[in-house]
Amino acid sequence: NPLRAAGGAAFSFDEISHGVDETHHVAPGYNADILLRWGDALFPDSPAFDPMTQTAATQERQFGYNNDFIGVIPLAADRAVLCVNHEYTSPEVMFPGLNGAEMADSADLVDIEMAAHGGTVVEITRDGSGKWAVDTNGARNRRITVNTPMRLSGPAAGHDRVKTKADPDGMTVLGTFNNCAGGITPWGTYLMAEENFNGYFLGKDAAESHPEADALKRYGAPGEWYAWGKYHDRFDIAKEPNEVNRFGWVVEVDVEDPASTPVKRTAMGRFKHEGAETIVNGDGRVVVYMGDDQRFDYLYKFVTDGKYDPANRAANKDLLDHGTLSVAKFGEDGSVTWLPLTHGTGPLTAENGFKDQGDVLISTRQASDLLGATKMDRPEDVQANPKTGKVYVMLTNNSKRKPEQVDGPNPRAENTFGQIVELTPEGGDHGSDKATWDMLVVCGDPSNPDVGAKWNTATTENGWFASPDNCTVDPSGRLWVSTDQGSSWAKSGTADGLWAMETDGDLRGTGKMFFRVPIGAELCGPAFHEDGTTLFLAVQHPATDGTKNYPGFERNSTFEDPATRWPDFKDGMPPRPSVVMITRQDKGKIGV
Ligand code: FEO
Ligand code: CA
Ligand code: CA
Ligand code: CA
Repeated sequence: NPLRAAGGAAFSFDEISHGVDETHHVAPGYNADILLRWGDALFPDSPAFDPMTQTAATQERQFGYNNDFIGVIPLAADRAVLCVNHEYTSPEVMFPGLNGAEMADSADLVDIEMAAHGGTVVEITRDGSGKWAVDTNGARNRRITVNTPMRLSGPAAGHDRVKTKADPDGMTVLGTFNNCAGGITPWGTYLMAEENFNGYFLGKDAAESHPEADALKRYGAPGEWYAWGKYHDRFDIAKEPNEVNRFGWVVEVDVEDPASTPVKRTAMGRFKHEGAETIVNGDGRVVVYMGDDQRFDYLYKFVTDGKYDPANRAANKDLLDHGTLSVAKFGEDGSVTWLPLTHGTGPLTAENGFKDQGDVLISTRQASDLLGATKMDRPEDVQANPKTGKVYVMLTNNSKRKPEQVDGPNPRAENTFGQIVELTPEGGDHGSDKATWDMLVVCGDPSNPDVGAKWNTATTENGWFASPDNCTVDPSGRLWVSTDQGSSWAKSGTADGLWAMETDGDLRGTGKMFFRVPIGAELCGPAFHEDGTTLFLAVQHPATDGTKNYPGFERNSTFEDPATRWPDFKDGMPPRPSVVMITRQDKGKIGV
C-alpha cells in the first residue's frame, strides 16, 4: 500500500457497533464534545437561547438549524474559521404546539425559519486540552440567512430569466437556502451548495400556466414544503415567476470580510447542488466536482480557465466565473467521458431552446438530458483525494431504478443502500475529458445475499453501512464516509454514523465504524483540522427521521415529545442539531 509506505497507517481505532439509541457514540479512547448547538451565541450581543421565546431577530444572532457542511480554515495553530451550512428547518421539533403539523404556518414562524437557514462563519480557538471553543469576538463571525443580499455573477447574471420585480437587472438575490454540503477553496473562501430549492416555493396551481412550466417540472418546483410563499410573495411562483431561477447555484463567501457580499457563481450550473469540493489540478487550474442529488440525475465537474495563484489571494477572486462545466457519461467498459455544457456545441443551440450560455446554465439538467449523460443513483458528495488523484462519488440510493435501467456504476434495481464509485482521471489530469471508473463498494449488509452488497471480506458486522452521503479525506489521504438513510434506517438496523473506509491495498473496500448519531439524526460535514487531531462532525436533525420505527417510541417526534432531547437532555429543551468535535484522549492524530 503506497499510502502506508508514505507514512499513513491502517485505521487504528477499535470499532463501535451498529445500533440505535438516544445519544451519540464514538470509538474508545476518543472524546466527542459539543462545540456548537442550534441557538448558541455567535456574537457578544447574542441573546441566550430560549426555545419558548424564539424570534427572527434572536435567531439571526445565533447558530442556525440543521448543520450540514463543515469547512475549517486555519488562521493560526490554535485559531480557525469554521464555516457551517444550515440546510433546512424541522418545525415539528423546533416550535411548540405544532402537533405534528407539516408546516410552520404563521408570519412569525416563517421569519424564524428564514433566519435559521443559510450559514454560519465563526472563529474558534483551541486551548491546552486540545479542544476548541467559539470566540464570539471573532472579527470574521457572521450569519448568512435567507435575507442576506447576494450578487449573481457569471454567464446567467443579468439574464432575462433571473429578472424579478424587486431586481429588474437580475443581479442581486436575497439569500440562500437548503445549503447542503459545500467546499473550501484553495484561496480560503467558503462554497455553499444550494440543493433542494424547489421545496421552498408555493404555487402548484400556477405551475401549468407558468411561462417555464416544463423547466419547473424538471426541477420539481414548486415543492410546497414550506409556507414562506404565503407571507413573502417572492416564494409564490404565481406572483414572482422568475425567483425560482435565482436558486440552485453555488454561493462563494469571502470569510475574511464579514461585510462582503456572497456571490452566486452561475458558471457552475444550476441544479440540486449537493456539494462543491475543489482540487488544484497539476497545471494550476481549479477543478470542482459536484453531484446533482436527485434520482436519475447527474455527476458534474467545473474546470476553471484560469490558474490558482497561491501567492496572491485577490487574483483568485473571480476564478469560478470562467471555465467549463461538464457532465459525466459512464461506459460499461469502465470509461468516463466528460461532456462540456457549452452553448453552440452539439445540441445546445437555439433550435433546442438554448439561446445563450445563460440558458444552458439555468437549465443545466435539460442540457445534460440532451447530451445523453448517465442517470445516476442520487449523486451526493464528491471528493478528490489530493494524495492519490482518485475521486470518490457517493451515490446514496435510488428506490426507483428498474431492473432494465441497471448499468455499471448503478448496478442494482430498487437500490436502497447506495454505492461508492471511484474515478481515476486520465493521466492524473482532473482537467481531462477522460477518466476511468471502478466500484469501491456496493453498500448494505453483506451477510444478506438478497442485498447484493460488495465489501472486502475483512469488513466486520459493524463495518458495513448504507446510504453514503458526505465524505472527507483526512490529512493522511484516507477516506471517511458519513451516512444518511433518511427514515428507512430500520432497513439496516443501525442509526447513521461515520465509517473509516479503506481504498487501497489488500483492505480496499473495508469499512470500520467510528461514530454513531442519536435516534432520528443523520451525520454530515465530516471535516478534519489540517493537523489531523480534531475531526468536526455535524449531527443533523436529531429526533426526526423514522422515529416511528424506534421500539418503545413508535410515533413521530414533536417539540413536546421528541424521541431524544440530545444533546442537552433537559426537560423542556428540544433536540438541537449540533457540531461535535472529536479529539483523541492522548491528543494524537485521529485514526492513526
Ligand atoms: Fe442534503 Fe443530498 O443531501
Ligand atoms: Ca447531503
Ligand atoms: Ca466532503
Ligand atoms: Ca442528507
